[in-house]
Amino acid sequence: MKILVTGGAGYIGGTVAQLLAERGHKALIFDNLSHGRRDLLPPGVEFVEGELADRGAIENIFIAAKKQGRPFDGVLHFAALIEAGESMLRPEVFFRNNTASTLSLLEAILAHGPRRLVFSSTAAVYGEPEAIPIEEDARLLPTNAYGESKLLVEHMLGWLNRIHGLRYASLRYFNVAGAPEGPNGITRGEAHEPESHLIPLVLDVALGRRQSIKIFGDDYPTPDGTCIRDYIHVSDLADAHLLALEALEGAAACNARLIFNLGNGQGFSVREVIESARRVTGHPIPAEVHPRRPGDPAVLVASSEKAIRELGWKPKYTQLDEIIRTAWIWHRKRYVR
Ligand SMILES: NC(=O)c1ccc[n+]([C@@H]2O[C@H](COP(=O)([O-])OP(=O)(O)OC[C@H]3O[C@@H](n4cnc5c(N)ncnc54)[C@H](O)[C@@H]3O)[C@@H](O)[C@H]2O)c1
Repeated sequence: MKILVTGGAGYIGGTVAQLLAERGHKALIFDNLSHGRRDLLPPGVEFVEGELADRGAIENIFIAAKKQGRPFDGVLHFAALIEAGESMLRPEVFFRNNTASTLSLLEAILAHGPRRLVFSSTAAVYGEPEAIPIEEDARLLPTNAYGESKLLVEHMLGWLNRIHGLRYASLRYFNVAGAPEGPNGITRGEAHEPESHLIPLVLDVALGRRQSIKIFGDDYPTPDGTCIRDYIHVSDLADAHLLALEALEGAAACNARLIFNLGNGQGFSVREVIESARRVTGHPIPAEVHPRRPGDPAVLVASSEKAIRELGWKPKYTQLDEIIRTAWIWHRKRYVR
């Protein structure tokens, strides 16, 4: 396959682009490097620096590939701003970058691109769930502007599928974590700037880069009062993307519109994550409690039964300690010289 990977200079897109290359596919990464890193681009993968909102730039990529007789087979769309907390301060930036700019990409796809797209959606589209584990047909009511910016894209995709036959898979990731163990060991991992995700922040404390970890709220209706989340290893997530592309390819998938949750099906509280990191790193990792943040649901745990059943997806990293072990190897490589 030949695949355009938007946001491939980032954590997840780069991991998937690397997996595509390892499996003998051709990937082209398109990223504005606003949050991605040139030094983390997977080796041997073509890179074009560009802005998602620049419809012409994306169309040119599709047109040039057609002229060379090797058109794209699909698009994996990762490019987005991802910080839910930030989205509650500057929602307009998220609607511009994640929603409006995605429309430019979709227009370019309709004009000259392949009719196959995999979209990085998020558990944040559900908001405060009515039932756990969350299934794909659960109520969609985001509690933060980030989730809404992604849900609006899902709505656009639904209409483009209905009217133009755009085949797409919307993959609703839960909390992605860990580092991929490739043929050369662990060479990449989570590197958000600024970092807002719990596991790298906890590992920062273990490395002495932070004094303590902040727990936002210990008065949630959960057994230890802290928020519960579902952590999925980035390599398991990457596998699901290849399976989704295959599912969209089949003749039976004509006009396909696929929606899958991707999680571990197990929830871990913030305190349990800190405990796991203490076991893995051997560091005491001091924690301090702060007030709740606006827009944080108490519990988000996925049912991934549909992806397991319909895509044949088999997540390998089911233990939190294992996920944190891979993240810890990467974190030390990144910061300890
Ligand atoms: N990390 C998670 O736990 C998680 C959970 C749910 C969903 N997601 C989704 O997965 C996708 C990838 O997340 P990530 O953790 O790899 O984030 P990331 O910040 O590491 O990667 C995103 C990439 O998109 C690029 N980008 C952003 N806006 C762009 C634009 N307008 N034009 C071109 N490039 C642009 C950034 O430079 C960056 O390289 C995002 O769509 C995110 O919403 C992530």
